[in-house]
Parts: sequence; structure tokens; C-alpha cells
Amino acid sequence: MLSTGPQLRLLLLLSCVTLVLLFQVTNAKRDFKSACSTCQQITDNFNKGFDRTAKQNFGGGNTAWEERKLSKYETSEIRLMEIVEGLCDSSSFECNRMLEEHEELFETWWFKRKTKHPDLHKWFCIETIKVCCPKGTFGPDCNACVGGSDRPCHGNGMCDGDGTRGGDGKCSCDHAYKGEFCLDCIDGYFNEVRNDTFSLCTECHTSCKTCTSGATNQDCDECKEGWEEDDQEACVDVNECSTEPSPCTEDQYCLNTDGSYSCKACDKVCAGCTGAGPDNCQACASGYQDTEGNCTDIDECSQPESVCTEEHQECVNTKGSYVCICSSGYEEQDGQCVQTVQPEKEDESEASETTTSPHGEL
Ligand SMILES: *[C@@H]1O[C@H](CO)[C@@H](O)[C@H](O)[C@H]1NC(C)=O
Ligand SMILES: *[C@@H]1O[C@H](CO)[C@@H](O)[C@H](O)[C@H]1NC(C)=O
Repeated sequence: MLSTGPQLRLLLLLSCVTLVLLFQVTNAKRDFKSACSTCQQITDNFNKGFDRTAKQNFGGGNTAWEERKLSKYETSEIRLMEIVEGLCDSSSFECNRMLEEHEELFETWWFKRKTKHPDLHKWFCIETIKVCCPKGTFGPDCNACVGGSDRPCHGNGMCDGDGTRGGDGKCSCDHAYKGEFCLDCIDGYFNEVRNDTFSLCTECHTSCKTCTSGATNQDCDECKEGWEEDDQEACVDVNECSTEPSPCTEDQYCLNTDGSYSCKACDKVCAGCTGAGPDNCQACASGYQDTEGNCTDIDECSQPESVCTEEHQECVNTKGSYVCICSSGYEEQDGQCVQTVQPEKEDESEASETTTSPHGEL
């Protein structure tokens, strides 16, 4: 009984350790990509610093003496220090950490390996600290990307982890390409050129959903929605507007477009229309009348029979309607126009104010 306690604890501890290790492994895998790019940045900056300091010397003093005493600037520790100072931005944590961790390697390379291994990126990032791989290879062992290291993904995609010790080497294909090898074309594209190692996908005609042999509307395997096959087996636009009933509502007109259509609002003077504007009405909206094929506003106020019937009312025409307002000197009270109570001193603006009431209320 006593022994189960410690055993359980040990088991828990072990599983915790396993979890932490698993986490670190997956984390490290992903981190190789960023570590490699940090390393690349360091070696790029090293090469820039190397070029920058190429024409320098110790500056001042007796060069002959210095050459004897300190060896040449070209291969000096001082030059190395000047280059190393410019390798990382002070704000880049990753860069400075990597530099600190491997500072002595730069000395080793500078004094002992430079001649035999002139490519610092290759020696440092790929072969020594092993965060990068040669171009076209990926992962812990620098295996070739899908499609080979010369043309990863057959030139039509990106190999995951390319050039780093991370990634899985799988392709993410460029637009228009698909498949494990990025040799197949997505729908709407066809293989203009294709063999085992090379593929060029070209866009189908806009009327095709899929096509295989060419880029005209006669090369479609299947027409896109909004297009249909004509008697020459070419895909042509469907005129959705010619269907009965119209696909639009009563206060809209239908506009056919390539592969589709749209519904546009009729002019507000129309009750139904065949196109834009007041001269394409099928009938006139209420308050409008047909004048030479054009719907125009009816002036209700000038009709022989008065439309504003209350006492002291005036009629004002509006677009498509009219309003009845109280005459000057009157104001509306409970639906009637009553004489305005004059203030002691007459105020021009108040006296001329009128109250409107839409005709619908009366
Ligand atoms: C595949 O096609 C490309 C481009 O046309 C050509 O350069 C290459 O040699 C061809 N490869 C084979 C194996 O036929
Ligand atoms: C129709 O009426 C509108 C607005 O009154 C006017 O601008 C237009 O010129 C008229 N069109 C025709 C064809 O009479």
C-alpha cells in the first residue's frame, strides 16, 4: 500500500517530463526556420561588414611598425570585432542570443577556417550550428525537397522548410497549380505544357468551369454557371433577363452581364420599368403622369377641383404628391388652421412661419 504513492508520483513526473520534451521537440522543429533566417541575416551582415571594412586600415600611426607588431588589419582581430559589432540590431533578441552563444565560432572561422571555407553561411549556419540546409533541401538531414533540390516543387511552389533544418518538404503550390508535385492545374486552368518534371498551367476562357486543351470558349469541358453551350459547342452567356417572369422585382429592371445579371432600381417616377431613367417606365408611379412617353409630376394644386379643403389652407405641390399648409397668419391646431396669436411686438420670422401637414392626414 505504501509503495503505490511514490510510484504514482514517479509516473506523473515522468509523463510531465515527456510532455515537456515533446513540446520542446515540436517547438524546436518550428524554430529551425526562424533560427535559420536569423543565421542568414547574421552572415549577410557579416559579408556586408567585410566589404565595408575592406579598404580600412588601423588608421594613423606608423603602418610599417603596426604591420610588424600587430599583423595586418585585413586579418586582424580588430577588423573582426568591427564586423561583429554590426551583425545584429540591438533590438533583435534572437540575433543577439545566437551571436552570444556562438561568438567564439566567428573567431575560429576568422583565424582558422576562412581560407578553406570561404562561404561563412555554409560553414556556420549549415555545417557547424546546423540550423540551415543547402537550397532545395530541408529538415534535420537536409533531404531534397519534393521535385528535387534543383527545382523544388517543379518550380511551381514553395517547399516547406526549404534551406532550413525545419519543415516537412511538402509543397505549397503557386496559384493555378495543385497536387503533391505542383504539376496539376486547378479548375479553370489547363496544362499548356506538361511532362514528368515540367508543367505550365494557363487560364481557361472566362466562360469555362473546366477546360483541357485550349483557352477559347470552344475548349470548355463544362460551362461556368451563367453560361451555356450553343449549337457549336461553345459556351455563351445566358441572358437571364429574357426569362419570364423577370428575375427582378417589380420596381427593378434587369441588366444582363457576362455570366450573370443584376437588378437595378427603377426611377422613382416609374411603376415598373425596362431601363434606367424616367423615359423607360412601363407605367407611371402614383402622382406622376405620362407626358410623351415620360413620367412627369402631376401638379395636384392646379387641378380644377381643390385638393386642400379645410378653411385657410393652401396647397403646395411636391414631387409625386402635394401638401396642405395653413395660410400665412394661421397655424395648425387639432387638424384645423386657426389664427396665430400675435405677440406684443411683431416678429417677422415667427409671423411668417407656417405649419405643414401631409395631405394623407387630412
Ligand atoms: C519537359 O519539358 C520541359 C519544357 O518544355 C523541357 O525543358 C524538359 O526537357 C522536358 N523534360 C522531359 C523529361 O521531357
Ligand atoms: C422626361 O422628364 C425629365 C424630367 O422632367 C426630363 O429631364 C427629360 O428630358 C424628359 N425626357 C423626355 C424624353 O421627354
